[in-house]
Amino acid sequence: MNLPFETHQKHGEGLKTAGKNLIYIILICLICGTIAFGFCVLQAYYIDGCGDQKNSTILGRNSVKLEYKWPENVEKVINDVIDNNDRMTMNDDRGVLIKAELMKFDTSDVFYIIIYDGVDGPLSHAFYGDENEYIHVFKPGKVNVVVFRSHFWRSSPQNAYEKKKLSVEESCKKGLKLKSNYSDVPKELMANFKDTNFIGLIGKEFEVSVRSANSFGRIWGPGYWDTVAVLDSEGNKTGKEFILVAGYI
Ligand SMILES: *[C@@H]1O[C@H](CO)[C@@H](O)[C@H](O)[C@H]1NC(C)=O
Ligand SMILES: *[C@@H]1O[C@H](CO)[C@@H](O)[C@H](O)[C@H]1NC(C)=O
Ligand SMILES: *[C@@H]1O[C@H](CO)[C@@H](O)[C@H](O)[C@H]1NC(C)=O
Repeated sequence: MNLPFETHQKHGEGLKTAGKNLIYIILICLICGTIAFGFCVLQAYYIDGCGDQKNSTILGRNSVKLEYKWPENVEKVINDVIDNNDRMTMNDDRGVLIKAELMKFDTSDVFYIIIYDGVDGPLSHAFYGDENEYIHVFKPGKVNVVVFRSHFWRSSPQNAYEKKKLSVEESCKKGLKLKSNYSDVPKELMANFKDTNFIGLIGKEFEVSVRSANSFGRIWGPGYWDTVAVLDSEGNKTGKEFILVAGYI
């Protein structure tokens, strides 16, 4: 006779537990929701520059993903980052933004992003390489951006990095001769490099930032870069220095 009652009681307890579980689930949902909302607010602040200027960073949250069209859309990304971030003064900060945009492209190419002051002239910078594989966006008086792309860095052998590092370090150890025009120097340096599609020399005094995009696990990017000193005829340092960047094919 007690059996139905006991069953009923047990059934009631089951309901109670279910109710408790439901409360826990609702609590967890509330906590998750709050965290998600917090992230949304943070993201909105970060992307919109604290909301006071919608154009403070390029493209915005609802942007359409750009097709990987070289050079048109890469130039567009560079121009957008520079033009829409007028208050940004550090070249490296611009580099970080351009990196983030380049990584949205659907490609296995690996990029070097070189950013420095908007200077010109053969004492300031010089480049040599496959002109289909690097682009410059020069904003006189403001900033210069050079983006190089490597097609084969992703599939390169493990020792590609070591080899590139060695070649760059050899050139840096030798130093550069003092000149009034460095335009032809990258071409001369290229003779010492293998599997290289790009050599860049940028005066170190111009707040040079070198970043890479898509170079997962290889932080030096698709090649290697270092500082090279300019030496006088006696082999003494003149004080002038360049950043030497070598990009893999
Ligand atoms: C934002 O961008 C739009 C379109 O590019 C432009 O018309 C507008 O003037 C810009 N606003 C600011 C505050 O720069
Ligand atoms: C620097 O050298 C390059 C190549 O030799 C030449 O085309 C250019 O006119 C020179 N620039 C200056 C300012 O002398
Ligand atoms: C170059 O360096 C040597 C020592 O390495 C020194 O004796 C010489 O005076 C230096 N020359 C100049 C022009 O500074």
